[in-house]
Amino acid sequence: MSAEADEIDIRSMRALDGAWAADIMARSEPWLTLRRGRADALKLLRNRRKQCFIVRSGGERAGFLVLDLNGPLGGYIQTIGVAPEMRGCGVGSAALRWAEARIFKTHRNVLLCVSSFNRDAQRLYRRAGYEVVGRLRDYVVAGHDEILMRKTLGPLSTLEGSRPREPRPARTRALPFARSTTQRTRRATEKNQRQKKPL
Ligand SMILES: CC(C)(COP(=O)(O)OP(=O)(O)OC[C@H]1O[C@@H](n2cnc3c(N)ncnc32)[C@H](O)[C@@H]1OP(=O)(O)O)[C@@H](O)C(=O)NCCC(=O)NCCS
Repeated sequence: MSAEADEIDIRSMRALDGAWAADIMARSEPWLTLRRGRADALKLLRNRRKQCFIVRSGGERAGFLVLDLNGPLGGYIQTIGVAPEMRGCGVGSAALRWAEARIFKTHRNVLLCVSSFNRDAQRLYRRAGYEVVGRLRDYVVAGHDEILMRKTLGPLSTLEGSRPREPRPARTRALPFARSTTQRTRRATEKNQRQKKPL
């Protein structure tokens, strides 16, 4: 079955969806190796600072997404998971595209972490246009790293409303490192006199 053929819809997570997603996380890699159990999963899914979504395919729950749009570097895809029986059908790719579209409305960068041993997921992200920008050694458990990946629309300064600010007008109050008023007046007078020189 292909998720391209089945209709995918994504909506905010409800309480029962959270328990369903936590069960998947508690039984699946990479969370088993990372020793993130059901209680950790529920804590994440109930965190009000995160945006949690359920992904449905043909009206049935197929996967979930957790986004964090409060980070300093861009929008962060914290977790993406698909029910084991639905993997490899396009659900994860569709959820990833949806998350990116949501984040790119307000951010120039999408970031995510993937475990060093999760080669299948790394392949998916590389194919989707993510590049490795860092490595967090032994980040969750010793012996396994988290690989930081980024997809970008380009530099922040091209975003409307976030251009570098114009320099502020000079302060009127003299600062210890500023030239003294006398020095500034003398230089201005010399300059004016040069400009007034006859041709
Ligand atoms: C990773 C995951 C979200 C991808 O969703 P999906 O619906 O299976 O992926 P799609 O069908 O859209 O795309 C297929 C690609 O996903 C990746 N993938 C497939 N099965 C996977 C699995 N069991 N674990 C990890 N990645 C997998 C592969 O890159 C695959 O491409 P391939 O055909 O070259 O092997 C999903 O497989 C999953 O939930 N895996 C377990 C949890 C996980 O690893 N989450 C990511 C944490 S960073």
